[in-house]
Amino acid sequence: MTDRQFGLPDSGRPAEELLAELRALTAADLPTRGGRTTAYTYDAGRPGVRAAAEGAYLAMLEVNGLDPTAFPSIVALERQVVGAVAARLGGDERTPGIFTSGGTESILLAVKAARDARPEVAEPEIVVPATAHAAFFKAGAYLKVKVVAVPVDPETFRAVPEAMAAACTDRTVLVVASAPSYAHGVVDPVAAIAAAAAGRGLPCHVDACVGGWLLPWLAEAGAQVPPFDLSVPGVTSLSCDLHKFGYAPKGASVLLFRDQALRLAAYFACAQWPGYPVVNSTVQSSKGAGPLAGAWATLQALGADGYRELGRAALDATRRLVAGVGAIDGLRVLGTPDATLVAIGTDGEDPPDLWELADESRGRGFFLQPQLSVAGLPASLHVTLTGVSGEGVDGLLAVLRDSVAAVRARGPVAPPAELLALLGQLDFTTLDDAAFAALLPAAGLDLSPGAGTRMAGVNRLLDGLPPQLRDRLATRFLSALYSPYLDAPGA
Ligand SMILES: Cc1ncc(COP(=O)(O)O)c(C=O)c1O
Repeated sequence: MTDRQFGLPDSGRPAEELLAELRALTAADLPTRGGRTTAYTYDAGRPGVRAAAEGAYLAMLEVNGLDPTAFPSIVALERQVVGAVAARLGGDERTPGIFTSGGTESILLAVKAARDARPEVAEPEIVVPATAHAAFFKAGAYLKVKVVAVPVDPETFRAVPEAMAAACTDRTVLVVASAPSYAHGVVDPVAAIAAAAAGRGLPCHVDACVGGWLLPWLAEAGAQVPPFDLSVPGVTSLSCDLHKFGYAPKGASVLLFRDQALRLAAYFACAQWPGYPVVNSTVQSSKGAGPLAGAWATLQALGADGYRELGRAALDATRRLVAGVGAIDGLRVLGTPDATLVAIGTDGEDPPDLWELADESRGRGFFLQPQLSVAGLPASLHVTLTGVSGEGVDGLLAVLRDSVAAVRARGPVAPPAELLALLGQLDFTTLDDAAFAALLPAAGLDLSPGAGTRMAGVNRLLDGLPPQLRDRLATRFLSALYSPYLDAPGA
């Protein structure tokens, strides 16, 4: 049975066989434990915590979050989870919140709330730093809200409060700051941005999706953490993902609001159809309660002490990585990270090709996530360090040193000028999945079995294209990937 086989089996298959098939399929995935996949996954490294989350998830597997009056257990759990997050992030037991499926959903709802709280604004806009997460652009696209991206300081990668304030107009419904930004791990000057927003009567959302459940523990471990939470005057909402540094199973984020009116504007209700009256706090209607139970159990199983220890370990690992990268000729850390997220860029006379470096490191066991250049900010490779990263830091630094040497030895790689020009002229709307898939080898992407996952050609190509063309190319790629014309990567 391969992933190419389709359809339903004539008779049901035994569970052991299915689990064996899943094990075989996931063998080609990046590892989710052990800290060598330096993005996407957050491993607490504690089997007991994992077991508690798994048990709780399964215990609530069939419970439907659609109707909190039918399943009061979800109200009890959500109150506890939201309460725990609020208490740590400048709120209290009365702070209104929503448990959502992730950072993107929290951000969508924060933008919806801000938009719907100002129905008189015909063409609403949100003002975000250029380093804000893509989820704000998604919210803008989904909710028909214009996103005004304001350049950040090119040295520190932090938002510039005066520039943010200057970008606000009568149409602005929300101002955004990140704590920290994903790409560079730096915390924006939240207090100044929120004060400037409040001075104009505007709400301010803090995107603490990645940092909300990390920064408080780093501060306790002695790191300098600027104020960023609901205790900061002018901050009106804040998102904090538990499926990141909360170490909870995926599908867990909390959106906090300073007041009930704003949370009410995030809700949706519809009784204008003949079925059950719908009232939702989230984008999803029917939804499993597993992620909520998993997040609750993870918080309870780790406790403040557990998070404190994981925070201290991640901070120590980050300091060692930052110092080590600074000592590698040709590499530098972009900015000064406030959290345990590090962007590795290049410098010097003979900078190594970043995209080759990513492939080279992956081949040597460490996945470093490529981050394209945009808005005048240089390209980089992303590393998120968690509580289990410490053991791997020396190995990662050795891999980086060896990879830089190997990439340099192969010599510089020229940007694919002809291909870039060709792609600029292609009409992606008329190209179908089969034709697009046939083009990929020319772009240097070989997904055939055994080819290994070399992405340098594609990353170099994307980096050379204007962002809108990148987006069209990426969605075309996704469409081809889910069609029968491409092998699944690593298959
Ligand atoms: C700062 C920030 N905001 C939002 C998100 C989006 O979160 P998700 O992938 O859970 O939707 C992320 C994800 O990394 C993030 O780092």
